[in-house]
Amino acid sequence: MNKKLRKAVIAGNWKMNKTPSEAKVLLEEMIPLVKDADCEVIACVPYVDICTAVDTVKGTNIKIGAENCHWEEKGAFTGEISTGMLKELGVEYVVLGHSERRQYFGETDETVNKRTKAVLKAGLKPIVCVGELLWERKCNITEEVVARQIKLDLFDVSAEEVKNVIIAYEPVWAIGTGVTATDDQAEEVCALIRETLAKIYGQEIADGITIQYGGSMNDGNAEALLSKENVDGGLIGGASLVAGKFAAIVSAASK
Ligand code: PGA
Repeated sequence: MNKKLRKAVIAGNWKMNKTPSEAKVLLEEMIPLVKDADCEVIACVPYVDICTAVDTVKGTNIKIGAENCHWEEKGAFTGEISTGMLKELGVEYVVLGHSERRQYFGETDETVNKRTKAVLKAGLKPIVCVGELLWERKCNITEEVVARQIKLDLFDVSAEEVKNVIIAYEPVWAIGTGVTATDDQAEEVCALIRETLAKIYGQEIADGITIQYGGSMNDGNAEALLSKENVDGGLIGGASLVAGKFAAIVSAASK
């Protein structure tokens, strides 16, 4: 239907893996493997790897993202990183509200919303992560949980701004567990996310927004997941640390 309107986006989320020298090696391995991609290719890397990563991918089709950032431009926030700092280094994307940040670092929808607005204001593109816990799925409230996250995380984000937002649907029970949502489960929730976006921004804008699936996506299951109407890409953890696996997912998204 409208899938063709949207550019597929495959983003690696390296999490707390790879030193700068290791990042250089991995990216150099990836560059020739993804050079013909017909989708957006992003590597979201630890802060300390950003300089090396941006330098290594210069002139290639790989873009660099960060894994979080603070909402204030500057100030007394020890250990935090601002959008301006990221931008100056050549970062284009920022992962926000990842479930690991929500689970281990007290991230709430309110802070995800503040970060999203700051990232957009800086002219960067947020990859906003939403998704239900296993317990919430068992209680049959996936729909409410995800719709609530979308509404809160995007509160006060304008229709013009939302065009630069990528949503990543990541069921928490599928992250790093080897358990993937089935194609139908992924499609069901991604479609629901688009419905929620349509209620806020209208169908036309919702139809243009890229919605990724994330959670144990790999070279074996990517093609089936990405063939779904509302699954426009992937946010890849474990498999993004192996050049061949990541490249295979990029190929699947390029079909
Ligand atoms: P995974 O992680 O692919 O290792 O499950 C995905 C993510 O956390 O973004």
